[in-house]
Amino acid sequence: MVALNTLIENQYHTPGLYEDILNRLGEQEIELSNVSRRDIADVDEFHVRGAEVSLELASRIRLENSKVLDVGCGIGGPSRMLADDYNCRVTGIDLSHEYIRTAKGLSALVGLQDKTDYIWSNALDLPFENGSFDVVWTQHVQMNIRHKLKFYSEIERVLSEQGTFIYYDIFKKDSGEVNFPVPWADYASASFLGTTENMDDILERLCFKNLLTSDETDKGTSFLEDLFKKLKKNGPSKLGLNVLMGPSTKEKLMNILLGLKEEQIVLQSGIYKKRAIN
Ligand SMILES: C[S@@+](CC[C@H](N)C(=O)[O-])C[C@H]1O[C@@H](n2cnc3c(N)ncnc32)[C@H](O)[C@@H]1O
Repeated sequence: MVALNTLIENQYHTPGLYEDILNRLGEQEIELSNVSRRDIADVDEFHVRGAEVSLELASRIRLENSKVLDVGCGIGGPSRMLADDYNCRVTGIDLSHEYIRTAKGLSALVGLQDKTDYIWSNALDLPFENGSFDVVWTQHVQMNIRHKLKFYSEIERVLSEQGTFIYYDIFKKDSGEVNFPVPWADYASASFLGTTENMDDILERLCFKNLLTSDETDKGTSFLEDLFKKLKKNGPSKLGLNVLMGPSTKEKLMNILLGLKEEQIVLQSGIYKKRAIN
């Protein structure tokens, strides 16, 4: 039987990803010595609503000059935004070697290598001392995590007292199901959608205090509907999420859209504060 970590890493493995992105930039006649965050914005935020939702999340908390951990950082779009717009020092960890290599390459390409670090690591065993970060940020990762308690316990452990945990994720509704493939799993064996109730319950038990919960389902549904209209009109983007998701991109996104419309899954973001221990 394949170990779960290997299964998840294989799910996201895209050989030669960094070089593919460079080639696609070249095909658009973008000078590699002059690449901006905007040039890679359609590929480096791997979640429903891309860069716009990350900006929205960031505007909800105090971030300036913070030390941030992005758990399951993918190829690093959100971490570069936090470093660039808010002068944060951001560490991203991810289970995919190829994503970590690409995240490092892209940060250097846009001149943010001094404010971002990327480490190949498992979210369930974070390589950091207790209380190392002011903010822990995660987007669209827990769907691949079977051991939710361990996932959120590690986040709590590495946060400083009064630190902020901010998430944006996909959850199942009750016993909701999705059709496969979806962007995070080709088959049910890689998918561990939790419910919001279970997450809230775990976070309360870990002594987090809830500051905000926001249902993002309608915005996500509208975004995906618009995306399908644009795809029909203009065809796939030269440097979009299809680079990460491959030939089944359309089917994967359609399965999310159906799940959202049929109320099998929901999109939710939220903010929790780590309580001080007296
Ligand atoms: C859908 S992508 C989201 C990437 C990024 N958060 C973003 O929004 O652009 C999910 C990411 O979670 C990572 N991941 C899944 N399970 C993980 C684990 N146990 N530890 C670390 N990363 C994990 C995957 O490798 C993948 O990069």
